[in-house]
Amino acid sequence: MTVTTEAHMRAIDENTITEAALEQMASTPNPRLKQIMAALTRHLHNFAREVDLTPEEWLEGIKFLTAVGQKCTAYRQEFILLSDTLGLSSLVNALHDRRATEAGTKSSLVGPFYRQDSPTLKLGDTIVTKPTNGQEVCLYGRVFNSAGRGVPNATVQVWQPDETGNYDLQKHDPSEMDLRGTFHTDADGRFYLRTIAPLGYMIPMDGPVGDMIRAQKRHGYRPAHIHFIIGAPGYREVVTALYLQGDEHIDSDTVFGVTASLVTGVNSKDPASPIPNLPTIKFDFHLPAAAAYGSGRVGADPSQIVKKVAS
Ligand SMILES: [Fe+2]
Repeated sequence: MTVTTEAHMRAIDENTITEAALEQMASTPNPRLKQIMAALTRHLHNFAREVDLTPEEWLEGIKFLTAVGQKCTAYRQEFILLSDTLGLSSLVNALHDRRATEAGTKSSLVGPFYRQDSPTLKLGDTIVTKPTNGQEVCLYGRVFNSAGRGVPNATVQVWQPDETGNYDLQKHDPSEMDLRGTFHTDADGRFYLRTIAPLGYMIPMDGPVGDMIRAQKRHGYRPAHIHFIIGAPGYREVVTALYLQGDEHIDSDTVFGVTASLVTGVNSKDPASPIPNLPTIKFDFHLPAAAAYGSGRVGADPSQIVKKVAS
């Protein structure tokens, strides 16, 4: 006699598939992984049902994500760029800021051009290492704690594009560092350095993310900005960027990094400048107390991501 189990089998259709997938994943021992994968699966299935996803469209999506991965190298991070242009990176930053136990400087994007181990420099040094036509400026400010006291010996990592809107990673030899430096605040929490005013730029458009931006008829520009990672023992690391007012894309950043409190400008006459006779960009940062949760870096050095994947 042939025994059929059909009567006991679940009928999988476009709705019951979600429950079936969740049931199978319910054995995940790590509770956070279980929660994240269950929510991801629910939303992914709802998305497919909402748009009535066709096999051709599904394959387009697979091809797109494959191309995004293939574009990644030690000097290029197309997945971070995708996250940035979808607004996911800024959303994760906003969630991160909401978890802070004390008010601090708002987070902004790390972006795809961060490199760890930038040269350690002395206060007043320049981060410019190549000939430039950029406008030299003094970039300065103080790092405060929530009690309004300067934080001494805070680490200030700074990186930026040049006056044409390009980072060193986009240059002829991307292994040579330029326009990056790591500084330490003085006893009063002050930092100051020489650099050039950055120009806004179009995000890298020669990959699949660029194809997406063009298909959506978006302009693809970021307003002029300077990136920072600032940290000190006992404080939550602040990962942020300053945006220069007057840039035509200040209100339509392709990666949604700009928020009003991070907008500053170039001051052509600043008697308070620690380096006299230079225009200035001034900004004070506020570090909240350290909290129990981990890093606030929505991004990483591309070479480190490639290394981790390979190992
Ligand atoms: Fe940037």
